[in-house]
Amino acid sequence: MNELETATLEISTRLTEKSRLPEIDFQNLNFGRVFSDHVFLADYQNGRWQNLRIQPYETLPRLTPANACLHYGQSVFEGLKAYTNTEKEVILFRADENWKRLNKSAVRMCIPQIPKEIYKEGMRMLLDMDRGWIPPMDGASLYIRPLIYAKDNSLGVRPSDTYQFVILTGPVGAYYGEPVKVKVETHFSRACEGGMGAAKSAGNYAGSLYPAQLGLEEGYHQLLWTDSKEHKYIEEAGTMNVMFLIGNQLITAESGSTILDGITRKSVLELAREWGVDVQERKLAVSELIESLENGTFVEAFGTGTAATIAPICQIGYEGKNYDLPTVAKDALSNRLLTELEDIRRGRKADTKGWIWKF
Ligand code: COI
Repeated sequence: MNELETATLEISTRLTEKSRLPEIDFQNLNFGRVFSDHVFLADYQNGRWQNLRIQPYETLPRLTPANACLHYGQSVFEGLKAYTNTEKEVILFRADENWKRLNKSAVRMCIPQIPKEIYKEGMRMLLDMDRGWIPPMDGASLYIRPLIYAKDNSLGVRPSDTYQFVILTGPVGAYYGEPVKVKVETHFSRACEGGMGAAKSAGNYAGSLYPAQLGLEEGYHQLLWTDSKEHKYIEEAGTMNVMFLIGNQLITAESGSTILDGITRKSVLELAREWGVDVQERKLAVSELIESLENGTFVEAFGTGTAATIAPICQIGYEGKNYDLPTVAKDALSNRLLTELEDIRRGRKADTKGWIWKF
């Protein structure tokens, strides 16, 4: 059964007077620069979500200089992608997992949770309206960004009483145009035990910008974040989860309070386990990684995330030394995983796991 068709909610619609779609070149898409014609909005006030609507993508009204989110970053977001198949149906990949994670992040940030029917029906109607914005070709998709932000006009540091839920979308190409160079970060931290690293919230990303910028100045696209206590164990790569194939072991950090519970991450691990790979969710010491690079047991490293999908890593910098990683073979695990995921979410392969929503 297609759960998306069962919801009955009142969602008002106001259509754009002139679609911007004819101006868009699907062959030349950057990430997150172009936005589709419409957005879904809902307001939270007096203890409930209300005023569900779809309207043209435009400036958000009534955002004052005292907006609590602008000052204290009380917000959560998600990222997922829509595809189309040859029958021109809309396909969403594991969208229910994004809903669960949105609400998990919301709890951590004292934000009211979104009922599933609002999330699903809002997204379904929005995508139905803007289905022409879904690029049909491989390597591109429609990125969907659900967001909840605090709406109170108040400078007191406390949870807001009012919020807005927004779903915006935009066609995207690859997040990284080339294999990624990363530097093991041994000074700054992205997250700490008991902190908010597992939440998809604005502050986590804002805090990563300065260290990432320093890394960029040294020629690295992203940082390989390590634990905040000892800078000894690898946690994430930039805005992605990160995995290492060492011998036959596919190693990635266990999800916990410092690691984002990635949906691409869990999909990749599930597929790899089914393929007989020795998947290990455990601490990986930087020293173990360096040793594998020096003794020849290292096979490949890649980041996983919705935006980046599977991003091969081509260089790791550590304590002033750069380790160039072996070129990734066509039949490498990362490439096989990428092909499998692409085939499932583009409807080319049967979805035996209930991972896709289609309409
Ligand atoms: C995603 O992979 O969707 C993310 O949320 C990363 C992003 C901040 C670009």
